[in-house]
Amino acid sequence: MKFYILTLFPEMIENVLGTSIIGRAVERGMISYEAINIRDFTLDKHKKVDDYPYGGGAGMVMQAQPIYDAWESAARRADGPVRTVYLTPQGETFSQAKAKEFALEEDLILLCGHYEGVDERVLEEIVTDYISIGDYVLTGGELPAVVVVDAVSRMVPGVLSNRESGETESFEDGLLEYPQYSRPEVWHDRAVPPILLSGNHQKVDEWRRQQSLFRTRERRPDLLKTAHLTEKDKKYLNFE
Ligand code: ADE
Repeated sequence: MKFYILTLFPEMIENVLGTSIIGRAVERGMISYEAINIRDFTLDKHKKVDDYPYGGGAGMVMQAQPIYDAWESAARRADGPVRTVYLTPQGETFSQAKAKEFALEEDLILLCGHYEGVDERVLEEIVTDYISIGDYVLTGGELPAVVVVDAVSRMVPGVLSNRESGETESFEDGLLEYPQYSRPEVWHDRAVPPILLSGNHQKVDEWRRQQSLFRTRERRPDLLKTAHLTEKDKKYLNFE
């Protein structure tokens, strides 16, 4: 899968995506990305990419021309029509389900906005998906873009090793993940739950499922409404 990220701050993207699991996936050729500097496409002789808003008001607006030309250079290289995501607090809230959906694409273009916004006309021409990463306002779309690239990449087959793969992780079946423990057995007078040392895999699985259920009820009760619950799960929840 290839990500094209249209941005005024390519170094911000590269600094984050070059590291850790995503950096390794790039080295292994499972995914690739290109941070495309919108400023490289401006036809303005002073390299300007923004201007005052028609109708007045504070701040500047990113102009259509450099964004469109940057987008076209990416779209030309992708084969076929390519989904184009604009990161904006006005978008649909990003989710694990959306990450999985985007991971089915061959290519994805992400547009990072800045200043007071982007000329509406270029958005109308190129954007297929408006995505927000939460109900707060950031100074630009770069952090949201790397959040989306990270979450989508780990859903691309082969990016995670079997050990890292997300079978039992949070949100997989609509529940939060159970707590994890590693050595030592006792730390700061806190012992690891004895059942995890019992060697009884069935009991361990049951205990983890209960922990997932209780934790979800405590921290994200809203998720229980749509989680996939078995009859046994419902019994556990009624008991406690
Ligand atoms: N740009 C600024 N804030 C944002 C947010 N919360 N999500 C996506 N893009 C943004």
